[in-house]
Amino acid sequence: MRKVTDCVSWVGVTDWDRRLFDSLIPLPDGTTYNAYLVRGSEKTALLDTVDPDFSETLLAALDSVARLDYIVSHHAEQDHSGTIPLVLSRFPEARVVVTAKAKGLLMDLMPIAEERFIVVNDGDTLSLGDKTLRFIHTPWVHWPETMVTYLAEDKVLFSCDFFGSHIAASELFVRDQCRVHEAAKRYFAEIMMPFRSVIAKNLEKLADCDIAMIAPSHGQIYGEPTWIMESYREWVSAPPKNLVTLPFVSMHGSTRIMVDHLAEALSGRGVEVELYNLAVTDIGKLAMSLVDAGSVVLGVPTVLAGPHPLAAYAAFLANALRPKARFLSIVGSYGWGGKTVETLAGMIPNLKVEVLDPVLCKGVPRQETLAALDRLAEAIAARHLEAGFENR
Ligand code: FEO
Repeated sequence: MRKVTDCVSWVGVTDWDRRLFDSLIPLPDGTTYNAYLVRGSEKTALLDTVDPDFSETLLAALDSVARLDYIVSHHAEQDHSGTIPLVLSRFPEARVVVTAKAKGLLMDLMPIAEERFIVVNDGDTLSLGDKTLRFIHTPWVHWPETMVTYLAEDKVLFSCDFFGSHIAASELFVRDQCRVHEAAKRYFAEIMMPFRSVIAKNLEKLADCDIAMIAPSHGQIYGEPTWIMESYREWVSAPPKNLVTLPFVSMHGSTRIMVDHLAEALSGRGVEVELYNLAVTDIGKLAMSLVDAGSVVLGVPTVLAGPHPLAAYAAFLANALRPKARFLSIVGSYGWGGKTVETLAGMIPNLKVEVLDPVLCKGVPRQETLAALDRLAEAIAARHLEAGFENR
């Protein structure tokens, strides 16, 4: 148990080893599952629990707690809720404080008796005596049932996944802002980017709170929270940048020649470009690039008459993440024919983009293909200029 404020203690777990979340998301720096104990003059509340793999660690941290009145469950995903049943067994008097949607999800996911729940509406408060918890519904950070808690007397916001970052660290509070900025952006990109408009509303709702500290459920605590809230506003609401994200795969080098030529042509026209070789890339890095990209170009060879499966995966991912990008194109090489462009185009219905003429070539790219790539670079640079996309 570690002190956060006079009445708040951290009772979480640092998971230095974890490298994958949801069997999908890379965690290059591990993560934490933060749970917080808030002691008022009359009642005690536990805010979230930890991943069930670490249940025993949390229960050991709670050894010195004689009575627990409430478990606030901000979010039903098991990395935060998975130890609730065991905590309820240890503290038979405790009740689980949730949104109505979270109650339904938790009952779907784990054995918790219905009478153990207290459902709270948006703006409801719960007194712990001299401390007051205010619950603010914040859907889609990261599931639809999510809420956050504001501890008014201490000006602390307990934000669960919102503002979180996957970093395992020995320090409880943020020291290296650059490192946390990158990890928090990665986290936003991977799970929250598709819900930007709802998140913008959530940020507006928080404007009523005087927030001196943000205590998320992953990563370090923000002792100075203004910059992370400003970063979220930028990621959610700012126009895209003068940047092309270029995920690609190449089998025998032809598509790679095209990608490299296009990258140089873009760069020569003042457009920043980021290449992601899908055979080796960290998809978290690709997702982060998509937060800012004004355009996306897929570099894709044709395999078995369709797009290379890694490029299809990238298209599926981009469609799911719904980035802000306004322009899209496809470049790549084929051997004898196929429906690569048609197949990929059918995979991205969520992207509200203008599709610029694809550049495909048979075999190794020759002069006419390189000239077509130059024209594509010219078209992208002109579109970015017209749209007013600024450099990062
Ligand atoms: Fe950290 Fe969406 O759970």
